[in-house]
Amino acid sequence: MNALQAMTADLGYVHVFKPAQSPGAPTLLLLHGTGGDEHDLLPLGGLAPGAAVLSPRGNVLENGMPRFFRRLAEGVFDVEDVKRRAGELADFVIAAAAHHKFDPSRVIAMGFSNGANIASAVLLLRPGVLKGATLFRAMVPLDPGPGVQVAGTRVLISNGRIDPIVSPEETERLARLLQRAGADVEVHWQPAGHQLMPSDFAVAKTWLQSVR
Ligand code: MLT
Repeated sequence: MNALQAMTADLGYVHVFKPAQSPGAPTLLLLHGTGGDEHDLLPLGGLAPGAAVLSPRGNVLENGMPRFFRRLAEGVFDVEDVKRRAGELADFVIAAAAHHKFDPSRVIAMGFSNGANIASAVLLLRPGVLKGATLFRAMVPLDPGPGVQVAGTRVLISNGRIDPIVSPEETERLARLLQRAGADVEVHWQPAGHQLMPSDFAVAKTWLQSVR
């Protein structure tokens, strides 16, 4: 563990924070996939030049692989744990904003797979914590039921057409669920499976420019 991680682990998550390079730039909350860590998505910070980067490591271990919430099987989530961990991550973002001195109203999540799923859970369960989210290879983390309102939240879903883990129907269900809650959702289909492609980054870069 390096000095930065050791210093920041007491906010509840081992994480990397890189301050913004341009005044008024947003903070990208980078959320890795199963088995990743806080370093995995750091290169994606470059998709929003000048932005601050906050990149935590998931606190749940599955056979030694970090994740952001527990699952019972592939694609079968422990919904109570999803709720608990979404709350913990939302509290972490708020605490990190005070600690690292970034604007808590300008946080945009960028998550891959399990990281995308926890980002959606935070969007739906803790409205206001995220201004928006880029979701790569995302699934429905839970159905929060009617009454959730996240109007004004911008969401980009970039999923693969031939993903063996996420079906097109699942992607459409997620988009509908977020739209029902009032989010402004854009879905982009990649000619891909579960792995990210250069076209994912291109679409995210353009979308981020329109959100900042
Ligand atoms: C999950 O949250 O479990 C996923 O989207 C699939 C994975 O992380 O492998």
